[in-house]
Amino acid sequence: MAKPTELHEGLKGVVIAESTICFIDGQRGVLRYRGYDIGDLARHSTYEETAFLLLYGELPTREELDRFSQDLKAQRALSPAELKILQALPASAAPMDVLRTMVSAIALFDPQADDPKPKPKEEEEANRRKALKLIAKMPTILAAHDRLRRDLKPLAPQEGLSHAANFLFMLSGKEPDETSARTFDVCLILHADHGFNASTFAARVTASTLSDLYSAITSAIGTLKGPLHGGANTQVIEMLQAIGSTQNVRPYIEGVLARKERVWGMGHRVYKTKDPRAIILQALIEGLAEVRGHHPLYDIARAVEQVGTELLGPKGVYPNVDFYSAVIYHMLGIPKELFTPIFAMARVSGWAAHVLEQYGHNVLIRPKEDYRGPQEQRYIPIEERSP
Ligand code: COA
Repeated sequence: MAKPTELHEGLKGVVIAESTICFIDGQRGVLRYRGYDIGDLARHSTYEETAFLLLYGELPTREELDRFSQDLKAQRALSPAELKILQALPASAAPMDVLRTMVSAIALFDPQADDPKPKPKEEEEANRRKALKLIAKMPTILAAHDRLRRDLKPLAPQEGLSHAANFLFMLSGKEPDETSARTFDVCLILHADHGFNASTFAARVTASTLSDLYSAITSAIGTLKGPLHGGANTQVIEMLQAIGSTQNVRPYIEGVLARKERVWGMGHRVYKTKDPRAIILQALIEGLAEVRGHHPLYDIARAVEQVGTELLGPKGVYPNVDFYSAVIYHMLGIPKELFTPIFAMARVSGWAAHVLEQYGHNVLIRPKEDYRGPQEQRYIPIEERSP
């Protein structure tokens, strides 16, 4: 059998396109969106501004940012028809599945949904408008569904609140304090993009067929759901709770490794050092503890990092973005089922930027397989096949 020249399982190390959105140096722990260091964005930017940066390629002027933020606010509410669909979904449905279904459903109300033709500027603007609509509505979907499953009435978005603060308000019915709102805002910034990760790649594969932006985002949500990708943050909190106390950390981690299982929230395909986002998130926990009180899960998390790094560091496995974000969301009182959907709600701006980039220089993405199955089989009629 002819051997393929190269086999790249999991596309490890394969470069498939040029991009101007996200730079990552996994050895040095560097992450930049459009050339801006993630540390600077975490310190100075807001999610709204970062989303603009990703979608337009440049930081906005004050006027552009005001208009963009205003447009987002104007699109936050769900239409009566969208709300009806949401209410018809089973209250027991997982929020991530609800989000995937609702993004797909929102497309049905957009007469221009199926209009991805790439080149002309108006098409690009139309796609940015669709992206803006999804960025604005995804938090409302998640908060409304969470309240419905708790037998509470969904709350209308608050015009006066930022993207981050409004989500926390719609979830709990209480305006968050400044530190909590800012902490959550930074979490959204940190999750907004990350190069050609699995879900972004899924979005780009879908866009590369010239399918529409909503379909591409729906593919991405389905891909983010898995525990090896966005689903890891839920696994992290379950792991920390199962460990229960700092004394149990070492035997627990040694047991996980002996069974050849994963320590959740550790390791990354690209970073072979501590994820720069994990460093920023850890500092945020310390600030959050000042207003919300110290949380014992943070002590367990730090002990897991210590033992995990001792045992896995030689393989280049260190805490990733999901590790400390899970602790923050827990401290903010967010139910764990929402951790991965929140990742999606932040990442949608990055996904959309990648879809636009894909349309702009499109080549159909279609890799090849190394076929190892049988050849030249003789077809046997069904009556003659042995049972
Ligand atoms: N726990 C235990 N061992 C781990 C590990 C983890 N979290 N992450 C990687 N390793 C080990 C692997 O077992 C493998 O060891 P081996 O060479 O002895 O077989 C080695 O490190 C390389 O891991 P591999 O799975 O081949 O790397 P990858 O680039 O394919 O995987 C992840 C990256 C993210 C899938 C992987 O690190 C992982 O499963 N992490 C936990 C899930 C998670 O937190 N995902 C969120 C990512 S942001």
